[in-house]
Amino acid sequence: MSKISAAITAVGAYVPEYVLTNQILETMVDTNDEWITTRTGIKERRILKEEGKGTSFLAIKAAQDLISKKGLDPKEIDVVIVATATPDMKAASTAAYTASEIGAVNAFTFDMDAACSSFLYGMSIAAGYIESGRYKKILLIGADKMSSIINYKDRATCIIFGDGAGAALFEPNEDGLGLQDEYLRSDGTGREFLQAPAGGSVQPLTHEAIDKGLQYAYQEGRTVFKNAVFNMADATMKILERNNLSKDDVAWLAAHQANKRIIDATAERMDLEPKKVMMNIQKYGNTTSATLPLLLNDYESQLKKGDNIIFAAFGGGFNWGSIYLKWAYNSDN
Ligand code: UT7
Repeated sequence: MSKISAAITAVGAYVPEYVLTNQILETMVDTNDEWITTRTGIKERRILKEEGKGTSFLAIKAAQDLISKKGLDPKEIDVVIVATATPDMKAASTAAYTASEIGAVNAFTFDMDAACSSFLYGMSIAAGYIESGRYKKILLIGADKMSSIINYKDRATCIIFGDGAGAALFEPNEDGLGLQDEYLRSDGTGREFLQAPAGGSVQPLTHEAIDKGLQYAYQEGRTVFKNAVFNMADATMKILERNNLSKDDVAWLAAHQANKRIIDATAERMDLEPKKVMMNIQKYGNTTSATLPLLLNDYESQLKKGDNIIFAAFGGGFNWGSIYLKWAYNSDN
């Protein structure tokens, strides 16, 4: 029997309706469209406004989109993984609720968090389950309601983040398509530069913490930027070199959408033409765990069976890495 690899066989996505434009942000904090556009590439982002709806709301919608596009029976799903940095609650799994709501009643489920690298790391987990031969259908959902941890008075962060979700189905493939190689790394000394300090076990939520705004995401932008540029480029180059891939072998770069300048720098290091670089940061901003599946969903109709896609991400922790995947299907769209 030939070796089993883990292929993505369907994708789906959801973003909330409300559009937070740069122009609206100009009325909220001391910023302007020109600064945001030239420094980040972002024009607008989506925000989940409805009271009482959390990350699971986004995850369920993205999963349902995939299920209906694929014509999948949710009872066949073996595992549901929700990659997220903003779970519904501290002590009840977002994935368990999501799976029940979509009818994945035969699945076991869990949340996993590696900040902006959550979906990338989730791809590694999903692929491992498939390659082991133990499971046949893994639903990986990247979902974040970033607006729940953003201070809309802090211009350094509120202009960057948005809400959204994307889903991908992983299935066995015996034709050599799917995940080929991965290079994933972490450096915990980076956590002081990107964190939401309060609300965890180090500093539980107290009135004092809330008064200081410590429940919100904080980042030292320049330090994170430099580390992201270096490590995303370094990881992708390692993946290219050890798989003997030239720039002509690469069909697409699917890079975490944190800042257009970081994505451009990674593409430049790979010597990749701009038309091979997936980009939707202008529409959604940084949706943390959702950026990579939102890219796949937006570009699905252009992807061809056998296309070599290089994924890359960097985020809080620090966590980063690159994955090399061969696309497994031609879209009917
Ligand atoms: O997804 C997880 C990983 N996260 C990232 O990868 C994000 C990485 N960091 C970045 O993308 C960028 O560092 C930012 C977009 C956050 C900031 O861009 P920057 O070019 O690094 O700006 P800066 O922080 O160095 O600030 C430059 C200036 C400062 O003013 P002074 O000190 O030069 O007078 C800031 O106060 O821009 C000012 N500034 C703003 N001005 C207008 C900061 N935010 C804003 C703003 N509007 N929203």
